[in-house]
Amino acid sequence: MKAVTAKTHAWDRVWLGANLATGAPAYNDRHAPAGLGELRDAVLAIKDGRVAWVGSRQQLDSMQWAATNVTLAEGLWITPGLIECHTHLVYGGDRSNEFAARLRGATYEEISRAGGGIVATMRATRAASEDRLLDQSLPRAMALAAEGVTTLEIKSGYGLDLDNEMKMLRVAQRIGELTGLTVIKTFLGAHALPPEFAGRQEDYVRHVCNDMLPAVAAAKLADAVDAFCERIAFTQEQTRRIFDRARELGLPVRLHADQLSDGSGGELAADCGALSADHLEHASERSLQRMAERGVVAGLLPGAFYYLRETQLPPIARLRELNIPLAVSTDCNPGTSPIASLLTAMNMACVMFRLTAAESLRGVTVNAARALGLAKDRGTLEVGARADLAIWRLRHPEQLCAEVGVHRPVEIVLAGKRARS
Ligand code: NIG
Ligand code: FE
Repeated sequence: MKAVTAKTHAWDRVWLGANLATGAPAYNDRHAPAGLGELRDAVLAIKDGRVAWVGSRQQLDSMQWAATNVTLAEGLWITPGLIECHTHLVYGGDRSNEFAARLRGATYEEISRAGGGIVATMRATRAASEDRLLDQSLPRAMALAAEGVTTLEIKSGYGLDLDNEMKMLRVAQRIGELTGLTVIKTFLGAHALPPEFAGRQEDYVRHVCNDMLPAVAAAKLADAVDAFCERIAFTQEQTRRIFDRARELGLPVRLHADQLSDGSGGELAADCGALSADHLEHASERSLQRMAERGVVAGLLPGAFYYLRETQLPPIARLRELNIPLAVSTDCNPGTSPIASLLTAMNMACVMFRLTAAESLRGVTVNAARALGLAKDRGTLEVGARADLAIWRLRHPEQLCAEVGVHRPVEIVLAGKRARS
């Protein structure tokens, strides 16, 4: 370590000789502009919870620097902390019975129309105390965290009345406090029609707009608003009203769009300035065009595709042609995607949706950050980004997609601090 002078960089921690998947376009090969922004045998320094310097060993040699902590990181890869941008992981009970029914041939829509599906989980979620709900949900968040997830989105949507929606969002908040992860809380009151409003869907939408949304916003329990726009859920017109109200309250919106049928969800998301439109298996060309114009991120959820044995693929080739950013997520939920493994979702995105490994990794870093409106702050290893890091013993990050059940980070850093393991 060299003497500290006025010009000396004073860092909290530095990794020497690491391979970096920076995600920064500046480091991409001109011929592979959507690559990982790789820097081999490089240096990463952090200070005050932020990335302070990134560069080569040669550049470092010509600088004055000092660091409280120096890690020799030859053979390690550092990626941005993974960002899980779409989950429903706070819920009571389980729906293994529906899993079995689907294996016998029942469809998700049939089960839902017969009073199962989201409403079945609503009953179990309402019945659970806040502490019980936390006990049931925390292991799912911890499973994601153990794989290097440092930012986690969690939706409500199984309470479907004000008290129970608030209970879910408080549990999401407590998960953030207990794990140290950044938890982004999303209000999904328009997930399904609760039975007490049977035959009165318009009344429920009014209740969401006039009572639930303002109360949740006033309690600062939501960072964003989502809705399920689908023939078994809410219409386009209802979704639009909910989103208008959300935006009046200053909350960004994201949409469950075109999952089971084409409901012009992508177009609606674009019209409403949504950050992302997720699922998109049945999205129309017009929806994709509008998403491209408005910079809406496409949220790909291969776990739901897999569990539902969907055959209609999301229009990946068109999304690529239109330069629509692709995010990848588990959709962790008890019905259509009981998967608390983002690495598994990344593998599925490659195998089933034919994403490249680089696309998949960008889908859980830089593009997931965009889907959450956090791109200024995280998702890449650039100077100024929050020092959320996942450190891996790999030959190349492509292994994270190619090999399932093998990899765990050797260290996780949250805002510059080593995470408890
Ligand atoms: O993203 N599509 C709506 N919501 C979830 C499913 C929720 C459930 O079945 O409990 C989804 O697939
Ligand atoms: Fe979902």
